[in-house]
This record gives sequence, C-alpha cells and structure tokens, in this order.
Amino acid sequence: MATISRAVDLEFTRRLPKIELHAHLTGSISRDCLHDIWEQKKALEPDLELEDPLIAIPPGKVDYDIETFFPLFSSYIYRLCSDLASIEYSTKAVLDDFQSDGVVYLELRTTPRAVPKQNISKADYVRTILAILSEHNGKEANQMRAYLILSVDRRNTAAEADEVVDIAIKYQSAGVVGVDLCGNPERGDIRIFTEAFSRAKSTGLKVTLHFAEAPASSTDEELQALLSWQPDRLGHVIHVKDEFKDVIEKQNIGVELCLSCNVHAKLITGSYSDHHFGQWRHSSVPVALCTDDVGVFCSPLSHEYYLAATHFGLGREELQNLCERAIDSIFSGSEEKKRFKQVYSKWDGRNM
Ligand code: IMP
Ligand code: ZN
Repeated sequence: MATISRAVDLEFTRRLPKIELHAHLTGSISRDCLHDIWEQKKALEPDLELEDPLIAIPPGKVDYDIETFFPLFSSYIYRLCSDLASIEYSTKAVLDDFQSDGVVYLELRTTPRAVPKQNISKADYVRTILAILSEHNGKEANQMRAYLILSVDRRNTAAEADEVVDIAIKYQSAGVVGVDLCGNPERGDIRIFTEAFSRAKSTGLKVTLHFAEAPASSTDEELQALLSWQPDRLGHVIHVKDEFKDVIEKQNIGVELCLSCNVHAKLITGSYSDHHFGQWRHSSVPVALCTDDVGVFCSPLSHEYYLAATHFGLGREELQNLCERAIDSIFSGSEEKKRFKQVYSKWDGRNM
C-alpha cells in the first residue's frame, strides 16, 4: 500500500533539522531580548534617553522598507547594544532562539563595530562574539553548531573593509569562516572593496555577497564586479538578468533566499508565491532558505520553510531535500558537511 505523505505543518518545519546561512546578528535579536537589555540598563541608569524597544520597534510591526530598516540599527539598536554585557547577552539569546527553532547549523554574520565610549575596538567586538559561539559549540547538549561571517558595510571605506578582512583572517582559526558585503543597497561604490575581498579569498576565507537586492545595486557594472570576486554564495539575487543567472548556475554559486524579508520590505513585487525562490528551486545550485533579520521581520526559519511549503506546494520530503541541498554551500568545511549528511540520513521525523 502506498504511504500518503502527511501535510506540512509548523510542528514539522520546527522539527526539521535546518541550516541557516544568512542571518545578521543584530537584526536577529528579538524585541523581547532588546526589551530585557533596555530594562536592565534603565534600572542602572534611570536617565537613559532611549525609548523602550517595545515602543521604538512595536511588536507585530514588520513593514520595514529600505528607508526605515537601516536607520533602525544606526539610530536605535546599536545605541542600545553598546557595551560588552549587552552584546554578550543578545548573542546568547540569538543562538538560543535559532537552536530552539530546530536550526542545527548556523552561520551568523555581523559587521565589526567599535564602541569608542566603552573602549571597545572592532576586534574586541568580534572576540566577544566568538567566545559566546565557542562556549555554545562546546556544550554537548547543544545540537546546533555556530560559525561567524564578518560583514563589510557598503558605506565602509576601503581601509575599513581592509580592517574587517584583517580581523577575519586573524580569527579564522577561532570560528570566522567568511566575509560578507552588506548594508544599504542604495549606498556606496562596491568597486573600492575589490582588493579586500580578493585578499580574503586568497587566505581561504569564503565570500558571500548581498547581490541585486535593489534596482540601485543591480547595474550590469556592479553585478559583473561582484561576480569577478568569485563569491561562494550570493544573498537575495532579486534583480538578476538571465545572463547573470547563467553565470551563477555555471559556477554553482549557492543562493541565500529570504522570503519574508523580501515581501515585507517590498524588495520584490507581489507576495510569497511571486518570490524568485519559485525559479531558483528548479535550478541546479545550492539553495538555502534564510531569515536575514528575524528580529525585525519576525519569521523564524521554521516559518520560512512553512511559507515555502504553503506557497509552492512542497511536501515533507521536498522540504527535507531542500534542507539537505544547502549543505554543499556551507563555509565550514568537510567535517561539518559529513556530520550533516549523517544527521539527515538518520533523521526519522518525517512521518511523525
Ligand atoms: P550586524 O551586522 O550584526 O550589526 O547586523 C545589522 C546590520 O546588517 C545592518 O546594520 C545592515 O548593515 C546589515 N543588514 C541587515 N539586513 C540587511 C539586508 O537585508 N541587506 C543589507 N544589509 C543588511
Ligand atoms: Zn542580509
């Protein structure tokens, strides 16, 4: 008798061992966690001028677009998470959130940030986060393994990008697996970063780039330049002509696709069923569904898989295959790839 595949529900997508490859640390901090940090600060410093995060970033509000999204960090969250204690506390909370959502492998990315008032250098910031990741990975009870990618912001100078790459190289053996290009897609001239990314690549770091996220960052010149850096993965890949799609397929570059972020931020026209995941899933490249900024868009990875199932008609087996498909594009090497192939070959949660 043929077995009937059970429908996909949120319980299933939570149980599914998932790989998260595109998550910005500060954008992944939940509102509750930001509120906890604010409360602790307010107790120590009653004159604190920052508004309660539950007012500044109202619960349930997810319609942040390019105009309102980036200032959220520069004018609010970075001002709140501005000391080692809050950076440590929020990093731990982010790891716990991903793990309790059934993520078994996480590549978290962050832009090294100095806080001169607190005497914190960019290297201190990165060391602090790596120590939390290492503590997490060292606990046997933790199912999830976490690694770090360091981001260059499009508004950085060439010298600042060089510093990010220097730090990434220095901490490669401590858990930094790659570098990223992120930031407001309507700002900056990415050509100034060519040398920094080429140096990263030559030292064995992997490269992922926010690619064709908005019309302004999707000119032929920009996309050609970015592809010439030989990226290992690309994030978003929204405004991409066939000519560039062919290159991505020929070079088997992994794509990191973020459904909710793209819909809520109106980076795509239409809604979930219009998302370009519908095209890339039929390509030959590794495809990873990712959250981007779960703290802002409030859709955990399990929910992103659920949305993919609902809007593209995927069943349980197809979702598991999709998770497995991302393995080939992880940055941390063959040991982890082997471990995950085993995780999936032994996994028996499909029919529960
Ligand atoms: P952080 O790097 O850990 O501080 O995470 C927040 C930062 O990630 C923001 O300030 C942005 O520069 C970047 N970021 C988050 N989401 C996006 C995105 O969708 N596109 C480009 N940059 C992003
Ligand atoms: Zn991103």
